[in-house]
Amino acid sequence: MTSRPVIDDLSSFWMPFTANRQFKAAPRLLESAKGMYYRTTDGREVLDGSAGLWCVNAGHAREEIVAAIAQQAGTLDFAPTFQMGHPLAFEAAQKIAEIMPAGLDRVFFTNSGSESVDTALKIALAYHRARGEGQRTKLIGRERGYHGVGFGGISVGGIAPNRKAFSGQLLPAVDHLPHTHNLEHNAFSKGQPAWGAHLAEDLERIVALHDASTIAAVIVEPVAGSTGVLIPPQGYLQRLREICTKHGILLIFDEVITGFGRLGKATASEYFGVTPDIITMAKAINNAAVPMGGVAASRTVHDTIVNSGAQGAIELFHGYTYSAHPLAAAAAIATQDLYRSEGLFERADALAPKFEAAAHALRGEKHVKDVRNLGLVAGVELDSRDGAPGARAYEVFVKCFEAGVLIRFTGDILAFSPPLIVTEEEIARLFGTVRDVLATVQ
Ligand SMILES: Cc1ncc(COP(=O)(O)O)c(C=O)c1O
Repeated sequence: MTSRPVIDDLSSFWMPFTANRQFKAAPRLLESAKGMYYRTTDGREVLDGSAGLWCVNAGHAREEIVAAIAQQAGTLDFAPTFQMGHPLAFEAAQKIAEIMPAGLDRVFFTNSGSESVDTALKIALAYHRARGEGQRTKLIGRERGYHGVGFGGISVGGIAPNRKAFSGQLLPAVDHLPHTHNLEHNAFSKGQPAWGAHLAEDLERIVALHDASTIAAVIVEPVAGSTGVLIPPQGYLQRLREICTKHGILLIFDEVITGFGRLGKATASEYFGVTPDIITMAKAINNAAVPMGGVAASRTVHDTIVNSGAQGAIELFHGYTYSAHPLAAAAAIATQDLYRSEGLFERADALAPKFEAAAHALRGEKHVKDVRNLGLVAGVELDSRDGAPGARAYEVFVKCFEAGVLIRFTGDILAFSPPLIVTEEEIARLFGTVRDVLATVQ
């Protein structure tokens, strides 16, 4: 393969969630990837400690997925799914339905996590309307929640910088649960923290304030990822489920990060034994090889909407040109087959204790004020520099990259989520590099 010359003018691409001027002054450019490793344009190998952006769970450039996409591109490059269909769309939906919690077997396809979230919120509103409770319009999110960047997602989301510039035009009928992060009680918890289930009771307060008859849905990430890895306290999600059921409120789990093996099970719902009414997914659905997202709805939610319209009428006025795009669907089928044939969820489960031990070995290192983990996700929170929040973690991130390891950071929290094919040696290298780098950072 001949590689293209490295472009020297980076100005045209307005980069997402990036300090554009800073980046373009000292760019980090990736040229290729295979398995656990990226290769940079200057020929260095970089261990992928973040599965790209929490999405390449089967490792990079897997031959089975590459072949499925190539084959599909030459056979049926595009097909509409509005009043039309193609077999792979149905096959992909069926494969995903099979590994969703029992009953959540109706799958709507999107192209991203943000679209999945907005789709799920719309489905919740449509569901209540179809059953004659159209006044249930309020949506309850959670502080520090990340649900993508659509107006629906940032409205129910709780990441202040993502909302600030758009605050005048967020969805009006939204409230937020408190987040569950508290280092006084939960610092250095291994797995689910013992303290904090009572925070779910705040939902009763919100219900009392607005009245249940006005609330459509509660949306939370079962494990909050982008805000810096917040693990749900023991019993917390169960309690949210009970309160939602009691008041006829739909529970939506945003599984865009937890979906597909990150916790050692197909979904976090399965891991925690808590079944929501709707699950959003994206990222690892097809190993991020082609943009794709999805929403799994319960039979009840689906049937209520689909059976409510007149025969021949469109039941849900919603969808995307690229919903179930043939290349994305082909990649999803190949990916799900690979997860199964290689037992990657079981592998993640088996590796989790080693991953936990390696992460928690950073306790006591300079600047480290918390380590938290579940499955193959870990967060390491650093003390912030006075007056410069985020600067220390950014320096750690850059130095790790220079040392050949890719990690994520949010504020002063480092996040780890390697592909599920990671080896024990690579786990050791990942956290060992961070330890070495921390020692050099002021
Ligand atoms: C929980 C969650 N929801 C939604 C999204 C948005 O996904 P996307 O960036 O594909 O729109 C993300 C992305 O990180 C996420 O973590």
